Amino acid sequence: MSHIPVMLEEVLQNLAPRDGEMHLDGTFGGGGYARAILETAACTLWAIDRDPEALARGAALVQQFPARLHLVEGSFGDMLNLLGQHGVSALDGVVLDLGLSSFQIDDASRGFSFRHSGHLDMRMGRGGVSAAELVASLPEAELADTLYQFGEERLSRRIARAIVNARAEAPIQTTTELAAIIRGVVPQSRDGIDPATRSFQALRIRVNDELGEIERGLNAAATLLNPGGRLVVVSFHSLEDRIVKRFFADAAGRAPAPSRHDPRGLAASPAPRFKLLTSRALRPKASEIAANPRARSARLRAMQRLTQDFETPDFERQP
Ligand SMILES: C[S@@+](CC[C@H](N)C(=O)[O-])C[C@H]1O[C@@H](n2cnc3c(N)ncnc32)[C@H](O)[C@@H]1O
Repeated sequence: MSHIPVMLEEVLQNLAPRDGEMHLDGTFGGGGYARAILETAACTLWAIDRDPEALARGAALVQQFPARLHLVEGSFGDMLNLLGQHGVSALDGVVLDLGLSSFQIDDASRGFSFRHSGHLDMRMGRGGVSAAELVASLPEAELADTLYQFGEERLSRRIARAIVNARAEAPIQTTTELAAIIRGVVPQSRDGIDPATRSFQALRIRVNDELGEIERGLNAAATLLNPGGRLVVVSFHSLEDRIVKRFFADAAGRAPAPSRHDPRGLAASPAPRFKLLTSRALRPKASEIAANPRARSARLRAMQRLTQDFETPDFERQP
């Protein structure tokens, strides 16, 4: 079992670590990015993961880079606080590789995959409410809203009804039990995607408050970055990428322009503090997708803090 880092070459190009700098990998996972960053430059790397199993696996890498790699357990949405406890208040680069590692997906006991039977857990970190508890307790309407909002599942009401009927008979405790209930009411699509895919995504996002984490993490990273500092985010589905895209556009002054007939809008627009390093999301090369199918939905966006807050962003250079 291992995790193949996604879009590693593009991450390194945009994060561009240099000797003497300080960086944060907010999603340590299998340590693939961390190792490559430490090998690229003589920099210091702080690495956060909310999954204690990921950090335990990282101990070997810490031994290899003892004074340069520091692992911290927690959520990247809380990075200001977590790094502040270690006296770190400024960074030259932050990278976030959203979602799950292959270790988490492939371990049936974590409950993320409908392909393996396991307890319906889905918690990335310690504590919090498991997917089984949500499925057992959410009112039908709220269950349907969760599947619709976080899974973009059009048949959310039908699935919520089926879940409520099933749980009245017996508790739903395993991934395969839930998947079978969903497959019983959602027809197989022509593209071959399993009917349970969107509902599993929705529950996972809700269990881990993944979208809230992204909002908090992006805001904190923008606060921590030094002038010239880079922020690189790899996302894996449209709900994640939409948040990143909007945040980057706002920070770079690229948000939709207010009407020039509305003086209130013009007065309100703040000066941009970042410039985009990727004018549109980068996608993995076909060769990477062929070698690692889990990379297929990845999108990478990067931006850089302007060296002086009054610097004019260089939009002309965007391809
Ligand atoms: C896709 S993997 C990262 C893989 C890593 N880039 C590598 O090359 O091995 C995502 C990791 O981020 C962690 N994670 C996801 N959301 C998190 C959050 N909000 N705070 C901290 N860790 C998070 C997961 O536990 C998982 O280990």
